[in-house]
Amino acid sequence: MEEEILRVLLSEEEIAAKVAELGDRLSRDYEGKNPIFVGVLKGVVVFFSDVIRKIRVPCQIDFMWISSYAGTESTGNMVVKRDVSEDIKGRHVVILEDIFDTGSSLQFTYDHLLAKEPASLKICTLLDKPERRRSGVTVKPDYVGFVIPNEFVVGYGLDYREQYRNLPYVGILKPEAYL
Ligand code: IMP
Ligand code: MG
Repeated sequence: MEEEILRVLLSEEEIAAKVAELGDRLSRDYEGKNPIFVGVLKGVVVFFSDVIRKIRVPCQIDFMWISSYAGTESTGNMVVKRDVSEDIKGRHVVILEDIFDTGSSLQFTYDHLLAKEPASLKICTLLDKPERRRSGVTVKPDYVGFVIPNEFVVGYGLDYREQYRNLPYVGILKPEAYL
């Protein structure tokens, strides 16, 4: 598995430091608000479990699972495969995502959750690839871990064909690893 990695883009140590920083900011901003952190499955699981352990204020967690109809790229044709289980009306909600790429999935998730009338709705993403933003995407991430170049990355929850999620760092695949 590791022999298929061309280079490490973000090391375990860099990620851990950034996650702690994000946890500090979220803890300050959500003090006394009992926020609900909504993770978007599956890519977020590693980031999610690390960042919530850096939150030092009372909070709740929940998950959503969305999928697009076809392909490795987002098509804009999204469905909710699993909705949040909490009633988020009137609550302070923070969407946690692994990556903000074209923005289609976060736009969809944001609109879906906004319709449930939360008191506030913010987005926290570990990675942001601004070069890839699709036109028509109006949402912006409120908390960003790392802005990265336009490269396909794997590890720390992110996959290529469901593989590499278990790598502890974020890396770039060798061209020959692509099918
Ligand atoms: P979107 O293009 O912003 O809608 O992102 C859709 C989803 O594509 C993300 O939640 C990731 O699961 C996946 N994705 C986007 N870029 C990458 C990448 O570089 N590596 C792995 N998955 C990615
Ligand atoms: Mg994802």
